Amino acid sequence: MSLFNVYPLFDITPVTAKDVFVYDENNCQYLDLYGGHAVISIGHSHPTYVKNIRAQVSKIGFYSNSIQNPLQVALAKKLARVSGCNSYELFLCNSGAEANENALKLASFHTGKKKVIAFKNGFHGRTSAAVAVTDNPKIIAPINAQQEVEILALGDLESLEKSLSKNDVCAVIIECIQGVGGLDESTAVFYEGIDKLCKKYNACFIADEVQSGFGRTGDFFAFQKYNVTPDIISIAKGMGNGFPVGGILVHPNIKASFGLLGTTFGGNHLACVAVLTVLDVLEKERLLHNTLEVSSYFLRRALNVPRLKTVKGRGLMLGLEFEFPIAELRKNLIYKHKIFTGSAKNPNVLRILPPLTIKKEHLELFFEALISELS
Ligand SMILES: Cc1ncc(COP(=O)(O)O)c(C=O)c1O
Repeated sequence: MSLFNVYPLFDITPVTAKDVFVYDENNCQYLDLYGGHAVISIGHSHPTYVKNIRAQVSKIGFYSNSIQNPLQVALAKKLARVSGCNSYELFLCNSGAEANENALKLASFHTGKKKVIAFKNGFHGRTSAAVAVTDNPKIIAPINAQQEVEILALGDLESLEKSLSKNDVCAVIIECIQGVGGLDESTAVFYEGIDKLCKKYNACFIADEVQSGFGRTGDFFAFQKYNVTPDIISIAKGMGNGFPVGGILVHPNIKASFGLLGTTFGGNHLACVAVLTVLDVLEKERLLHNTLEVSSYFLRRALNVPRLKTVKGRGLMLGLEFEFPIAELRKNLIYKHKIFTGSAKNPNVLRILPPLTIKKEHLELFFEALISELS
């Protein structure tokens, strides 16, 4: 059987990884400024992570959600404290799309309505409702196109209020910093406006923190820069440092009932240990602090890069926007300089999403390579 060919692949085969580096079958070292798409938060093969997962799987790796799992309770408690979202409740699933799927479904149950408002260039995943609210017609199949969705321009509060006032909207979903779209972020007035309008018109404000959450922006959640209280916060990616896990934080205004949501694998023992370890390491190694420090160094160092239009994003969720498409540059960084970076929907944006453990000296390798390519 061959693989269903949906991914254009780089011809590189990582077989081991350690902190900010991955190694291929010939032990050739690559600097990872991509984190497997913003997934690696505490570094590859972190010793505590390896130890804890190994210990857990030797005890019990999985049982269903029909039994007591104290690890889920411990995780909810710890996540509340570390994130500062103390009053929220936690539902665990397996991926970012699934987190948003559950968030949208819950918003619809809660409000009794079904239309969703999302934003231009937003990305929320590839499952049914998540893909329908994603602004990319190429990945929306006819079966997904039945959802009632309105895509508005980022920053357009006037159109948002006009739509919400018809009273048929269950949710407004937004990434406070766009990931796949290319690191665009609107203003405090806009995000705080969404928050107020959602409350006024009984719609749920869903903050998609799948990519920006768990410290990637230097705040635990990107929305925390603003004075907003989302009804639902969706999480995944950096949460498990590579273990497939996602979830939603649910505001206490939304009440749970048996059977409302459910999953076989979500919140299994191994996933919980992965996330508990990520939270432990984020705290012990002060990785949010490191994120901010390394980020400000990055911004200063980027001033010397030729042909650069601007740097977008926050923390270690960054995009270098050039005056030209970056596809060739990205290829050269990988094959010539052994540095992984990311692309975006905006073809001129090179994305930088390293493990949050990265140090200034690692960035030096990148800037030397970048400047040699562009000079
Ligand atoms: C903001 C955002 N939401 C949702 C998703 C979907 O996550 P997953 O690929 O885990 O389904 C992504 C993935 O890139 C994302 O960036």
